[in-house]
Order: sequence, then C-alpha cells, then structure tokens
Amino acid sequence: MKKSEHPYRYSTEGAIIYETLGIRDTTYESGFLELQRLLGDVRGRQFLDFGCGTGRSSEFLRSLGAVVHGVDHNLSMVEQAQKKTCDGMTFTLMEDVIPAGEKSMDGAISANVFIEIKTLDYMREACREVARVLKPDGVFVVMSANPAAFRSNFRNFSYSAREGVQSGERVICTIKSQGQSFDIQDTFWQENDYRSALESSGFVVESVTYPRPDVLWDTDESKVPPFIVIKARKIST
Ligand SMILES: C[S@@+](CC[C@H](N)C(=O)[O-])C[C@H]1O[C@@H](n2cnc3c(N)ncnc32)[C@H](O)[C@@H]1O
Repeated sequence: MKKSEHPYRYSTEGAIIYETLGIRDTTYESGFLELQRLLGDVRGRQFLDFGCGTGRSSEFLRSLGAVVHGVDHNLSMVEQAQKKTCDGMTFTLMEDVIPAGEKSMDGAISANVFIEIKTLDYMREACREVARVLKPDGVFVVMSANPAAFRSNFRNFSYSAREGVQSGERVICTIKSQGQSFDIQDTFWQENDYRSALESSGFVVESVTYPRPDVLWDTDESKVPPFIVIKARKIST
C-alpha cells in the first residue's frame, strides 16, 4: 500500500473537513489559548509550525504577529493550506527533514501532531529536527491530546481507547466538524513520553499544563481537559 493510500492518513476529503474546524467555539480553543499564553509576545519573530495541516495553527500564530513557516508531510493537508494566501505565512511539504536552515527559527509550535507520531524513536527524530532549526534558547510549545482524554467524547473529536491503554498503542480518533466526521489513527502517549522525547533531543521542559475549558457543553470538555500543553526550550549551545 502506498503511503498516500493508508486509510488513516488524511485524504483530500478528510483535509477538507479538517479545514472547516476553526478554533473559536471548538474543543481546540482552550489548547490554543494556552499555547498563546505560553508563547507571550511573538510579533515579528520567525516561527516554525511543525505539522501545520491545513494551516489552522499557522493562521493562529500569524494572528499573534509571528512570521510563520508551516511544514507538513501530508500532501492533501498542505494543498489545502496553500490555498491560504497571506503575507508572512508559507506552507511547504516535508519528508523527514524540515526545509529550513540550522538555527533559522526564533520559535516553534506543534499542535495536534505528536499524537500522530507512531513511535518514540520518530518522536525523538521530530524533536531533534525542530531543535536543529531553532536558535539557541528558542521556545517550542507542543499541544497534544491529554492522556486522560482517550475515552472522552468532545464536541470536535472523540476517542474510545480500551481501559488500561498503554503508551504506543494505536487509538482511533473521530474528528467532527459541521455535521461531518472522519477517522484518523492516533497513538496514545503519556506526559513522560513527551518529556523524554524532548529532553533527549536538546530541550528542557519548562512547564506542562492541562488547560480547563470554560464551556457549558453537554460533551466531556467540562469533565476532562482535552489537551496537554508543554513548553520546552532549546538548550543554548
Ligand atoms: C491533526 S493535524 C493538525 C494540524 C494543525 N497543526 C492544527 O492544529 O490545525 C496533524 C498534522 O500533523 C501532520 N504530521 C503528523 N506527523 C508528522 C510528521 N512526523 N512530520 C510532519 N507532519 C506531520 C499531519 O500530516 C497532519 O496534517
């Protein structure tokens, strides 16, 4: 099977549904607001968006004033992103290597991506690549699904992992937007997995937070924070 035909990779149809999600009034809003709080003032800074997808996280970062370089390994997602034409924001298809020079970025984010990385070795490789393109002391904020949320039904995504799910196990995530849905295969990771991948790749972890959404929906957001948000910094060398 070719990589592009994998049933749990983003098809053109999946990418189009993903593109309709947005942030405001979605499950994702609490995670992005926390990411914004942790980044502080990014105006005029060069930022990598690792796993930019259809460009939603890049647009968010751009709205905060950063100059954004979105990269992603999925052609369907990058094609949707490239339809967004905006100064200060570019989208590039990548394979294993991030198409950016060493120490060229002031900071980086990765939103809703690490959950799609299948092994700890690949997660370390991704972190090493991000570290390579970051300037010394550059910040890297990772937003991912809360390990405690893998049996939750949120407004915009749901998981039904088995009880006792272990690190590295595959779990189907159903993404929901505007009455449409599609499945994607995620991998269950715990806080320590993210920490160890970052810490063995040239980062120090400065904080780990689980932002609680302020919503009154009948889905699980008020019971379980949907996201873990990790602020790391490249060790200055
Ligand atoms: C759920 S989407 C999130 C997109 C965007 N960051 C957002 O929050 O709207 C995850 C994206 O990460 C990309 N991705 C996953 N693993 C990746 C990797 N190792 N390298 C580059 N892109 C990756 C996928 O192709 C997908 O487009």
